[in-house]
Amino acid sequence: MTKRIALIPGDGIGREVVAGAERALETLVTRHGLPLDWTTFDWGAEKYLCEGVTLPEGALEMLHRDFHAILLGAMGDPRVPSNQHAVDILLGIRFGLDLYVNQRPAKLLDGRLCPLRGFSKSDINFVICRENTEGAYAGVGGNFKRDTVDEVAVQEDVNTRRGVERILVYAFEYARRRGLKKLCMSDKANAMPYGHGLWQRTFTQVQERFPEVEARHLYIDTLATEMVRNPSQFQVIVTCNLFGDILSDLAAALVGGLGVAPSANLNPGRISMFEPVHGSAPNLAGKNIANPMGAILSLGMMLEELGFSEESTRIAKGVADAIHQGISTPDLGGSLGTCEVAQWICTRL
Ligand code: NAD
Ligand code: IPM
Ligand code: MN
Repeated sequence: MTKRIALIPGDGIGREVVAGAERALETLVTRHGLPLDWTTFDWGAEKYLCEGVTLPEGALEMLHRDFHAILLGAMGDPRVPSNQHAVDILLGIRFGLDLYVNQRPAKLLDGRLCPLRGFSKSDINFVICRENTEGAYAGVGGNFKRDTVDEVAVQEDVNTRRGVERILVYAFEYARRRGLKKLCMSDKANAMPYGHGLWQRTFTQVQERFPEVEARHLYIDTLATEMVRNPSQFQVIVTCNLFGDILSDLAAALVGGLGVAPSANLNPGRISMFEPVHGSAPNLAGKNIANPMGAILSLGMMLEELGFSEESTRIAKGVADAIHQGISTPDLGGSLGTCEVAQWICTRL
């Protein structure tokens, strides 16, 4: 059966890196006959500024009905300081399609990419399972006496038993499925006893169902230190929405930077969304210098999820080969452009 993909390039470098990933899609279809087709949607800042539309009406239903997966570039534009379109489109899809897992792997493909001393290829290989539908992102709160000296701003951190339990179970199952022994849950229960106390209590219960996994807990501040001190100690990390956001940028920095970091927004068995971890990087946009590898590896994660494991491996190998041979954009020390790097990877497919 043909798998249908929705491409949402979005803003800034999102458009350029998705063009690179689209080229890889074309290659897989024309050279290997992969049963895929795709449709591109122009949702983003430009449409919002011209038409006032962020996530069009009926979009979620349409995505759910007509597509198997989504590949998104990035949302964010200096002309939209409120970030309203990103909230509506990006968080709208994550929340609206209930994509409760944000899976963000950090894998060192070449020792030269690691800013830490003494780490070589594969020494760093862990995945962050970030809760993706609630927490500080729930959008619960408000401003009282706005723009006065007495202004009060409330931004709630929403943690539900169901929401916490399902991401913890996902992380444990992920570890078990892959024979990974080390799982670390991280929170800030020492300062946030209500919300993160719920994480601790749920963790203790879920942990009992997975005796084969060595589970431990670190407070988020300690985890940040440990991730830099010795990232090899981690295999699976599970945490809340906000901490997962911050940690995944840190993790990316350990393996080459935001340019190489992919992610998957999942609700297992349902339509999923794949996107590079980075944003629209307005400073790089329109210059053909953004690294397309994060987007191409996100496509690789999508292919794996859609059941095309062989092609997913081919993509991962194409990216690794490019890195080993110094075929890269300036962020990795190379001098090639976005298009050229993407094209080179495509020739390896
Ligand atoms: P960013 O990730 O866009 O860029 C931070 C820096 O990382 C850039 O200055 C650049 O040096 C580097 N970088 C990022 N991607 C790169 C790539 N592919 N190749 C080479 N270098 C790369 O983060 P920001 O500057 O904080 O945010 C810019 C906009 O993007 C904001 O509007 C923000 O809200 C949005 N954003 C969107 C997403 C998303 O859509 N998923 C993610 C993060 C940020
Ligand atoms: C990400 C981004 C988003 C997030 C922003 C743009 C809302 O930083 O995908 O990591 O915080 O989730
Ligand atoms: Mn982020």
